[in-house]
Parts: sequence; structure tokens; C-alpha cells
Amino acid sequence: MPPHPTRHPQQRLFTMQVRMPSLQSELDQVSSSLASLVQRLLSTTQDVADDPIIKVAQASDVTTLKEMAAPGPARSVDHVIEEAFAIFDHRMRVNHPRFMGFIPSPTSPIAWLGDCIASAFNALGASKLQSSGPVVIEKTLIEWLATKIGFPSTAGGICVSGGSMANLMSIILARDRGVRRGQELRAVAYLSDQTHYSVAKALRFLGFNKDQVRRLPADESFRLCPERLKKAIEDDREAGLVPFLVVATCGTTNTGAVDPLEAISEICQQQNIWMHVDGAYGASAALSASRAEAVSGLKYADSVSWDAHKWLFQTYSCGLLLVKDKSYMVKSFANEGDYLRDGVAIEDEDIPNFWNYSMELTRPASRAMKLWFTLRVLGVDRIGRMLDHGFDLAGRAEEELRRLEDWEVTSAASMAVVTFRYAPPNLTETQRDELNTAISRSLIASNTAGILTTVVKGKVSLRICALSPHLSLDEMGGIVIETDRLAKELARSISS
Ligand SMILES: Cc1ncc(COP(=O)(O)O)c(C=O)c1O
Repeated sequence: MPPHPTRHPQQRLFTMQVRMPSLQSELDQVSSSLASLVQRLLSTTQDVADDPIIKVAQASDVTTLKEMAAPGPARSVDHVIEEAFAIFDHRMRVNHPRFMGFIPSPTSPIAWLGDCIASAFNALGASKLQSSGPVVIEKTLIEWLATKIGFPSTAGGICVSGGSMANLMSIILARDRGVRRGQELRAVAYLSDQTHYSVAKALRFLGFNKDQVRRLPADESFRLCPERLKKAIEDDREAGLVPFLVVATCGTTNTGAVDPLEAISEICQQQNIWMHVDGAYGASAALSASRAEAVSGLKYADSVSWDAHKWLFQTYSCGLLLVKDKSYMVKSFANEGDYLRDGVAIEDEDIPNFWNYSMELTRPASRAMKLWFTLRVLGVDRIGRMLDHGFDLAGRAEEELRRLEDWEVTSAASMAVVTFRYAPPNLTETQRDELNTAISRSLIASNTAGILTTVVKGKVSLRICALSPHLSLDEMGGIVIETDRLAKELARSISS
């Protein structure tokens, strides 16, 4: 058992002073029913299999929501709790076992519990002085995760809000390392046309013009092509430009593709260019029990984005930036401020001041603490099997689709993502686009599955991103069969 924290001897002196009206009566309203509130939260947020997968507020709901939004006079806690349940009812159940759109978030209730605990402590994870306990956990956990992707002991990192922030920070690291004063307008970054848009957005924020970003066409398998990359870099060097950053992806959002990371890293090393890997979606597979090999190329990166709120079962938000040589983080993000001096004085190697590693100063310790809590409770083996299940689900969907007539698999299952399209021969491509859009709408309206659409090689496709540990392989097979039935019904109505 860990020791009980001791109370400070001055405590009585302080508690005798009355500072503000007490909130005791408001808290008393809930304290007697706290256990049932937690129980209700658990069942409402976790037992969602029979709920509408996507519930969007209608015009009449918006009127009620607006009325509730205005603060007005004080109300009882119980009353406002009921309002909160009514407000949150209008949401996409991102942890619904049959939600497979965007990137689902099959949150573990254990992560939620870890989040509640961390939020209650409201620890400020910025420095040793402010949060020495959680900072040690965050640093150690980050280093452990770094070893899982094959990074050396020089590696470090930090928890951030998500992939967009991690990508932005990695571009800053690459720029500060590779672009000298006066070269800013000649600096060039290389992406593929499958790179997540947050990268181009971050480059824009940082002042890079469109003509400083090469968006190279991906190959047939949606992967950044090393030959095209090499040629583009050489052409730019010849033109007197300054290539400074290559962003590869480990698990593209659209099709789950993993870029050829080793070949890309060879080019980056030859050319002395920072290689960032956006693993916001795919890096979690490094913890999978049997498929970690799929992301073994992460070790070649200089920096990696990794979202635990995507495929590590965390509540929002919980992203990570891992950097092979953490000294670059301090060079780019170190902070100064007269009023920080007491915190600066006590920093040490084991308990760093995270304000020197991040864009943020005020930052919650909860991102690291809930991830730690989840990994500690569930254990790595179980998490590994939960990750494997996503691969299996997408594989099963693909297998069923390939058995059925008139279905095209537009991108094979990769990292739990598969895209496909119903393409009966009697319809034009435009009609097929409309038909597949209608299939998705119909799947949602009937609450069969939250399968949304995307565009793959210019054609509207259905897309499954299957991460839920609570959907069985047979249920996935059944969803595909039902999708086929709906597709045929809709196709008949188009052609008649
Ligand atoms: C590959 C990839 N990178 C980055 C992001 C952005 O991450 P976030 O939404 O956590 O900012 C996403 C989001 O889906 C993504 O799929």
C-alpha cells in the first residue's frame, strides 16, 4: 500500500478562516447520490450498443439547447445534471461497437475513471515544483512508449492535445534544426497527397507558403513513393531551395496505409532532412500483441505523433509527441519568465520542467495519468489483444466483401481500415457515387452501423475503421451482409 499523505500542521489554522460562502449544500445534494450518478454515467456512456449511433440535434432540439445554455439564476445540482444528460444525448457515440466512421474512439471505462481521478486532483503538469509525482509518471511512461517504437535512450517527448498539436510541434523542431535565418522563404517540406490535412494547416500557421509544400502523389497503395520523394528533393536542391522536412504517415486516415518508412529514412539521412512520422492513428499498433511488425518502421523517424485518444482507448484528449533526441525539444520550446524562477531552481533530469518541452505552459497532468492508469489496470497483454482485434475485424469485413457480387474493395484492409464500393455494372460512376452515399445514410438511419463515406481514387467509397473490442467478428460479418442487402434494395430503386 502506498503511504497516506500526511496533513500539514498549519492546516487547522487555515481551515478556521472563512473565505467564501461554502458550497457544502450544493455538494450535499449530490454526495448522497454520487454512487448512483457514477453508475448512471457508466451505463449511459458505456452500454451504448442499443443507442442511436449518431444523434444530431434537430431544429426543435436546438431551441431547447439554447434555453439551457443561458446561465440565468442558480439551479439545483440535480437539475443541471439532468440537463447535462439531455445535452450529451445529442452526440455521435464514438465508442459504439458499430461506429466505424472517421476514427472511432472505443474508450475504455478504465480510461474514463483515470480521467476522473486526474481531473479531481487538477494537477498542473508543467514542472517539478507543480506536479513532481505526475511528471515522473509522464516522463517514464513516454520513455517506455519510446522503447516500444524502437527509439534509443536519448528519446523523450510529451503528452499533447492530439495529432494536430504533435504535428505542429514536430514542424517547429524540423524548422529550428534545418532552416537558418534568411532561408525561411526557400525552405521546403514534403508530404504525400494522403498526409493528414493538419500538417499542411500547421505549415500554413508557421508562415510557409503553398509553394514551399510538395504534396507528392501517393502510389497505387496510397503510400508516399520514395523515388518521387528523392527526385523532388534533388530538383529542389538544384533550384537552390532548402529541403528541411519529410512527413511520412503510419496509418493514413483514409485507407490505413503505412508509408515505406525505412526507404524514406534513408533518403532523409542522405539529405540531412528531419523525418517526422504522423502515427496519430497507427502508432498504437506498436503495442499490439501480434501485429507490431506492421509499424516497425517507426524507429526510423526523428519524431512521431501518436494519439492515445484514437486507438489506445483513451478519452479526449490524449496525444503524444515522441522525439528521438529530446534535446531538440528544449532548444525549440524552452521557456523563460521571472516568475518561474522557483520552478527553474529545482528542476532535475528525473523530474523535468515540461514547460521547456511544449507549446503549452498550463497543461493538465491528466493526459499522462489516465493513460498510465489504463495501462496499469488493464496490462499490456490485454491492450495488445484489444488492438489485434481491430486488425481482425477489418480483415473479416474485407473477406466477406470479396465473397459478394458487385462489390469493389477500393483499399485492402490495413491497420483496421478497409474501403469498398458497391458498383453494379448497370450504373454509371456518378450513379455509383450517389448509391454509395445513400447506402451510408441508410445504414445510419436504420442504426445498422455508423459507416461513413470517403473518396478513394476519385470515387465515393464506404469506409470502415473498426476498432471496437466489443464487436465480434461474426457481428462484423453480419453488418457486411446487411449492407449488401440494403445496397441491392437501393440499387433497384435507382434503376427502376
Ligand atoms: C493521421 C492523422 N494525423 C493527425 C490527425 C489529427 O489529430 P487530432 O484530431 O488528434 O488533432 C488525425 C486525426 O484524425 C489523423 O488521422
